[in-house]
Amino acid sequence: MGELVMAAKITHVPSIWLSIQPGRHYGIRRPAEEALTEIGRRARERGAETFLVADTHWLNTIGFHLNGKERHRASYASHELPHFIHDLEYDYPGDPELAELIREEIVAGGQKARVHTYKDLGLEYATLVPMYFMNGDSSIRVLPIGCNMYSTIEENRRIGEALLRAVRRSGRKVAFLASGSLSHAFPPNEIAESLLDDVSSEINRSVDLAVLEMWKEGRIGEFVGMLADYNVRCSGEGAMADTAMLFGLLGWDGYTGRGEQLCPYFGSTGTGQVVVDFPVPVLAHEGRTVQ
Ligand SMILES: [Fe+2]
Repeated sequence: MGELVMAAKITHVPSIWLSIQPGRHYGIRRPAEEALTEIGRRARERGAETFLVADTHWLNTIGFHLNGKERHRASYASHELPHFIHDLEYDYPGDPELAELIREEIVAGGQKARVHTYKDLGLEYATLVPMYFMNGDSSIRVLPIGCNMYSTIEENRRIGEALLRAVRRSGRKVAFLASGSLSHAFPPNEIAESLLDDVSSEINRSVDLAVLEMWKEGRIGEFVGMLADYNVRCSGEGAMADTAMLFGLLGWDGYTGRGEQLCPYFGSTGTGQVVVDFPVPVLAHEGRTVQ
């Protein structure tokens, strides 16, 4: 029987990539680099065999999609910010078996999902940036699930539940990563560069910090009750599908675990970023939510 061994909310912002390149941005995201590295260390320590990544940069418009290739091997340049991320060579094993189980469970739950193996379907940077820090030896499989930008929080809660059912059916130890922002309001282009290390608005900063308090104190029922509103009012990245999947996996409003924040909250070109590791319910792999 498979097991969920990790459930984490992670950042992937391109400024983390810039932070490890020579030049004027070198080192600016060191705490985030270290937090992502720590997530990778913990995943290994817990025996993770697959990183299942809800990637808010693989944006889908209809249905739910998995990249189930046997091997993810290519070179990447960001279309959004080609000067930030380019010539990123990657080579990771994939997880077609788990992808198929997830597809089956999503469909069994009454939703539509497909697994793809097209050679030109590459990884996006919400997977690639974290994997650079977490999976340097490519020893852990990588399985991205896209985020439907027109999906609802409720749909993604159900996707999270389907992910857990599939993990239980698999023989895998799985680390789930919700790779996306907190608030995600981009500033107008004219002032974007001036907000490299900042959040677009004080309201968004305040709400993000209140959310982090809820996570730290285990007030997850309160949080998921406002998640749909949070997504709308704070310009959620990828419809905050990654976050809804995360808590769907963990048991939604029945989950009482407390998130462990692994780096300080920070602004990045107007968006709110963080890395938080959530304890997996002891019996989560059996579909129960006992802390
Ligand atoms: Fe992003």
